[in-house]
Amino acid sequence: MSLYHSVTVNSDSQNFEPVIVEVSNFYWKMDYYHREKRKKVISFVFSMLVISGCVAGYGTYGKEDHEVVRSSGEFSQLLRDPPSGTIPETTRTLTTKPIQKITTTTTESWTSTIPFCPERVVAYYSGTGHRDVSNIDFSKLSHLIFFHLLLDLNGNVSFRHEHQKLRFLELKEKARRANNNIKFMVSIEEDGVGFQFSKVASKAEKRQIFFNSFTTILQNYELDGIDIIWMHPYREDFANQVTLIQELREHLDRLTVETKKPYVISLVAPALGSTLGTNLGENIKNILEYVDFLSIRSFDYWKFSTVASAPLYSKTGPNVNDTVIYYIRKSGGNVEKLNLGLEFSGTFLNDVNSKKSQEQRGKVFWRNLEKEGWKDSISSWDLESQTSYIRQKRKYLSFENVKSLSKKMKYFNRQDLGGLMIWSLEMDDDKNTLLGAVSSCGYNQ
Ligand SMILES: *[C@@H]1O[C@H](CO)[C@@H](O)[C@H](O)[C@H]1NC(C)=O
Ligand SMILES: *[C@@H]1O[C@H](CO)[C@@H](O)[C@H](O)[C@H]1NC(C)=O
Repeated sequence: MSLYHSVTVNSDSQNFEPVIVEVSNFYWKMDYYHREKRKKVISFVFSMLVISGCVAGYGTYGKEDHEVVRSSGEFSQLLRDPPSGTIPETTRTLTTKPIQKITTTTTESWTSTIPFCPERVVAYYSGTGHRDVSNIDFSKLSHLIFFHLLLDLNGNVSFRHEHQKLRFLELKEKARRANNNIKFMVSIEEDGVGFQFSKVASKAEKRQIFFNSFTTILQNYELDGIDIIWMHPYREDFANQVTLIQELREHLDRLTVETKKPYVISLVAPALGSTLGTNLGENIKNILEYVDFLSIRSFDYWKFSTVASAPLYSKTGPNVNDTVIYYIRKSGGNVEKLNLGLEFSGTFLNDVNSKKSQEQRGKVFWRNLEKEGWKDSISSWDLESQTSYIRQKRKYLSFENVKSLSKKMKYFNRQDLGGLMIWSLEMDDDKNTLLGAVSSCGYNQ
């Protein structure tokens, strides 16, 4: 069983559906990138040791630049030859022994009754998990983002297939009926094999095709905006990324003059740990001027070294606080444009005692916790990471619940961030328990 099977086959989705595979692809790409980058950095450091052994005392050089170019090139090469139509079998590499990092207490008192009313609550819906969209509490959202449409190499934007379009239409209809004021957007992502954003952004004519093609969809479906998921640009893409978004802003502003309707542009940024050494932050500063908000994907840290999925703090690896502080510093004073990303799920380990470097991990949606054999009511509290966990014999689950989200919301208020990003609505239960824990005000008055 791989991470991807865990993500895709949860107990209420026995049948594979096309939409489900797309979400896996999102993780698959991220994962390929990190794994290969890690390998490259190790072999790079190794060859540097050899070289510096030979050329002792040689002058300084741009190590950071070097690493990034090499790893990006490698990433690009890998994705040109994808295993066609399949999701690769993968296993996790643990870089820390989990159980020693756990600092437990179950006695700390806390209250979940603090009302949180962020100015902006942005949530994704991707169509996995078979949650009936009728029971999503859309009144608690200011923005709803349908994940995701495709961009092709020419700049053309499209739905992936009819089935996906039907899900989109159903969501839009239900959301708008429940909340008149909701901003309904679509996200655009690359499809894992082609580096479409990089190619489209580099050519003026392709950028035009992209703007026109998106505008057709925007008008046909009466959308309020666009969310761009281009998290790992190469260093040589940085200037083009800014140009793309600046021109998109100008394009939509011209449309606003005709339609009298404002349009939203948002961008997603990765957690620290996946970006170390890329200086993405400098680019973010330039982009913030043109976007309405930037959603920080501050979860899935276990991929980098921590045990918890989304540790608020950690002494041993990247964590939510480090990521948030990083983007605040890079925001050039635009802190109100930053969204704190929260994931409504958990990550389990099959064997905490295993000393093998290969360890199996998987994801559990909050709504599937009980079905998959975990009980929130018997969870423990990890003091350092400020997250909940469950230990069952050798299995270990780190996850978000009302308590851990309340801690993150207190942090959110302290940092005075502008909004929340929720990944994703289909992971919450039918009572909207987690959504209710982070957003208690309504947006549909
Ligand atoms: C762009 O996509 C639309 C919808 O999928 C399709 O009808 C159209 O032919 C495409 N245009 C180009 C130039 O590829
Ligand atoms: C939060 O992160 C910042 C920047 O990395 C760090 O200086 C600060 O000590 C962290 N706060 C805590 C409580 O760990």
